[in-house]
Amino acid sequence: MILIVGGAGYIGSHINKELNKQGYKTVIFDSLVKGHKEAVKWGDFFQGDLGNIEDIRGIFKKYPIEAVLHFAAFIEVGESVKDPQKYYQNNVKNTLNLFQVMLENDVKKIIFSSTAATFGNPQYVPIDEKHPQMPINPYGQAKLMVEKILADYDLAYGLKYVALRYFNACGADLDGEIGENHNPESHLIPLILDAALGKREDIKIFGTDYPTVDGTCIRDYVHVNDLAQAHILALKKLMDGGESDCFNLGNGSGFSVKQVIEVAKKVTGVDFKVTEVERRAGDPPELIADSKKAREILKWEPKYFDLKTIISSAWNWHKQLNKSD
Ligand code: UFG
Repeated sequence: MILIVGGAGYIGSHINKELNKQGYKTVIFDSLVKGHKEAVKWGDFFQGDLGNIEDIRGIFKKYPIEAVLHFAAFIEVGESVKDPQKYYQNNVKNTLNLFQVMLENDVKKIIFSSTAATFGNPQYVPIDEKHPQMPINPYGQAKLMVEKILADYDLAYGLKYVALRYFNACGADLDGEIGENHNPESHLIPLILDAALGKREDIKIFGTDYPTVDGTCIRDYVHVNDLAQAHILALKKLMDGGESDCFNLGNGSGFSVKQVIEVAKKVTGVDFKVTEVERRAGDPPELIADSKKAREILKWEPKYFDLKTIISSAWNWHKQLNKSD
């Protein structure tokens, strides 16, 4: 049985679907503070809070857990700057509760959701695993702290982990069963789609004076189904007795905010309003992953790197979501 902590959220729910498709048995642990019960369409569900260690002990008592995938975290960079306590408490302290209960139960395999935000402002792109990790906000700091804690726990207790550092996770399940639904939403693609649906008056471009090809920020958009494959490959590595490791996950190519908007206009067929505004604090001009290591060691092969495919999958889901609002 595989435990998916935060499996009712955006990325966790996609990995849950893929694991079930490949024959794994899963149980989801989620507080539903950010996750959605309707996204748990596969496996068992257990509502609980990582802040309450007895909740975690409860699920380990009920199920024969072999390995853990940990997605539960707050993810808003701006909020982490305004309220760091919220991030260190949930993303670090509560995560330690999970590790504690894993060790109590002798469960020593975990896949941890990390982020490109652990690198801070890039010193070079594409960013490989050797790039210095110097986060510039509490969100990135908290994720890096957990990576370091995992390294210490491996040395001391033999806890084997794979930290997967996502660049810009995006897109939705190609069957349209699950997708991205954050509240509040802060990510570029869902906000653009809201503008296309008329749920927002416009999409704002945060900064047009960056040193990039068209002045807007460049990001490496990686489809959530491709991320799901990487998790399963990482899990297999640990199940086969593999050593702990870290991988950067992206496609190695970047798209600017303006390019994303242009493709979204084509996919949706809507000429929504675009407004250029000031830069958003803390946005590096360009974030692109070097995922050679994941390709070589995990044999990861992302398939949905075409921006049109990414946005079409998100659009299919987003339209449905809007209907049920
Ligand atoms: N952007 C806009 N307008 C918007 C929203 C975003 O122009 O309304 C721009 C941002 O300035 C940025 C790009 O679109 O340049 C992408 O922004 P997102 O908020 O979608 O994603 P980020 O790159 O800021 O964040 C992502 C993850 C974070 C993670 C970070 C790592 O969502 O969890 O990458 O750097 F921390």
